[in-house]
Formats: sequence, structure tokens, C-alpha cells
Amino acid sequence: MGKLVTVSIESIVPYNPGKTTEELKSELGLEKIIRACANETFLPPSEKAIEAVVANLDQLPIYPDGGASNLRNKIAQKMNVDADEVVLGNGSNELIELIVRTFARPADEIITSIPSFVVYKHIALAHGLKVHELPLKNQKFDLAAMKAKITPQSRFIFIANPNNPTGTYITNRELEEFLTDLPEDLIVVLDEAYIEYVDADDFPNSLDYRNQHQNLITLRTFSKIYGLAALRVGYAIAQKNIINYLGRVRAVFNVNSLAQVAAEAVLDDREYIQNSKNLLLQNRKQLSEGLSSLGLTITPSQANFVLVDLMGADTLETQKELLKRGVFVAPMPTSWLPHHHRVSVCSFEDNMEIISAYKEVLKL
Ligand SMILES: Cc1ncc(COP(=O)(O)O)c(C=O)c1O
Repeated sequence: MGKLVTVSIESIVPYNPGKTTEELKSELGLEKIIRACANETFLPPSEKAIEAVVANLDQLPIYPDGGASNLRNKIAQKMNVDADEVVLGNGSNELIELIVRTFARPADEIITSIPSFVVYKHIALAHGLKVHELPLKNQKFDLAAMKAKITPQSRFIFIANPNNPTGTYITNRELEEFLTDLPEDLIVVLDEAYIEYVDADDFPNSLDYRNQHQNLITLRTFSKIYGLAALRVGYAIAQKNIINYLGRVRAVFNVNSLAQVAAEAVLDDREYIQNSKNLLLQNRKQLSEGLSSLGLTITPSQANFVLVDLMGADTLETQKELLKRGVFVAPMPTSWLPHHHRVSVCSFEDNMEIISAYKEVLKL
């Protein structure tokens, strides 16, 4: 019997979503698990989003608005672009897939970095593309090396800014230089899932660079600061022709009605967004300083998580011990980072528990 799938698909290491908090609680006999593993917001959802969902429950028998026109218009207005420069996805994950599905030609290649968001590689492999993963330099995307890697086969460049799992970022000057003189048919995707948590003055908003490279695609999500990860909504902003092609390939009803109304509501909830940012910045500082004070090295982060260097301790063993104490963090694959955990920023009290759990487990 021949292989059912291509060599490329065979080579994909399946994404392991891990156990749910409920499963872990019952397995470990714990009443509470602090979820610091998936970079979700630690805050409850916006009341306005909840109200919008409840008010639209009677719409369940009806297909959603396939063009999501209200939400698209609202995003366009907020981002100061045209509505036909916006396309919505079932999370930005779906948009990454949609971009590759729409624009990949046989024998195309993608360039990204390692470690970065693993979905870029998975999706490229699923479509049979060759993947070039360039190592980070000083924990940051090595844009010069990425640019040097471009050949006529290069079709996509994926950059997460800030990067997951390092929380590091490329500056406005670095981005500007990178975008200069790129081949016209190269699609550059800037994944800004965490942009709303940034406080660095020299952080670029990729929307300001749209004229510099025609095929620049910005990705954003409602899964982080907007607190709607469960509903799966993300969006891409790009030139009209790019959005038009993506629209041809996109599944029509990819964003459900409740997700659309919740996203619209939270976009209007300025107080929720501002409060989320303020709290995150305070708590990111608290978590970073608390873990540093134990003698652990923290990579300065612009996102809602921090990368922690365990100074030689075993990542999986440490994770297991933390979990027994109700603290759920993400160990990094040792092939990427030998002794590192990614820890999502939590509430003040939960951060305190995380810090004392590390102190106890690592005997610091
Ligand atoms: C860099 C990056 N992009 C995209 C996403 C996924 O976002 P979504 O929930 O919109 O699919 C994540 C989630 O962790 C991420 O880290």
C-alpha cells in the first residue's frame, strides 16, 4: 500500500493541545489550576460582549452573515482602512492557512524563524512547501539573515511581532529596512496577535508600512486582549487585490454569528480594552520581576507572556511539579530552547502563586 499522505504531511509533528483544565483538576485532585500555558487573557470577557452573545442566541438557526459586513466595517473604521481591505477568519490560525492555500504555487518556499509560532511551519508543510526556519539572533528575528535567504522560490515570509514564545519585537527602523527592495511577488505576513499589549515606543504598526511593500499582510486577533479566544475571530488587512483573492478561497460562513456580534461589542468597549492593557502591563512587570528575583532569567517581553530560562533545570520535570501545585505553564521544546518555559501573565494573586511555585519546585 502506498502512503496516504505526502512526505511533507508525514513530517508534521502534530500540535498537542494538551489536557483541559477540567481534566487536569480531576486527574490531580485540585480545585484550581492557574492557566499560564496558552497566552489567554486572565480577565473575564467584556460584559458588552456577553450581552451581545446572549441577545443573539435566537439567531442560532440562521446562517451567519457570510461577509461579516458589520464587523468588517467596524474594524475598517477603527483601523482607518477600507472595508474591502479586511477579511475575517476563524481565528488568525485560519487566516494563516487561507493565505498559504490562496497564494502557494508548486515548489514555493516559506521563510520564518525558530522558535516562533509553530503554525506557520505546520501549514506550509501541509501544503507541501519547503520551510526555511532561521534561528533567532539574541532572541529576535534575524531579519538580515531572512532577507539573505530570499530566492525566486520564496513565496512567504512569516514574522510574529511580538514573537511567540520570546515576547521580543522588531523595531520600526528594522521593519522599514527589511521591507525595502523585496521581490514584488513575495508575501510578507506580519502576525500582530499581541500588538495591543505593546508599550515600546519604537514598535512598528505594520499598517503604517502598507505602501512600502504591496504584498504586506497584517494579521490581528480577538483571542488575546479582546478576550474572545473561544469564539475564534481574527482578521487580515492588506491591499484590496490580496483580500479579494483570499475572499475567493475562504469558506463562506467561517466566522459564526455570535463571534461576529461579540467582536463588534468588544471593539466598542474601550474601557475594557484600556483596563486590560493597564492591568497586563502592571502584571507583566510583577511576574517578570518576581521570577527574576528568584535568579531566573526573563526575556523582556512586549506580549502577555514571559519566557523564563530555568537555568539548567529540566523543563518537563519542572512543569510536572508545577502542575501538581496547580500552576500550568508551557515548556518549550528542548530543540528550540533547552531550559525554558513560557509563562502567561496572570492576575496579581495568581502571579504570586506562580512565583512561589517556581521558588519551591526549583528550591531557589
Ligand atoms: C503569534 C500568534 N499568532 C496567532 C495566534 C493565534 O491566534 P488565533 O486565536 O486568532 O487563531 C497566536 C496564539 O497563541 C499566536 O501566538
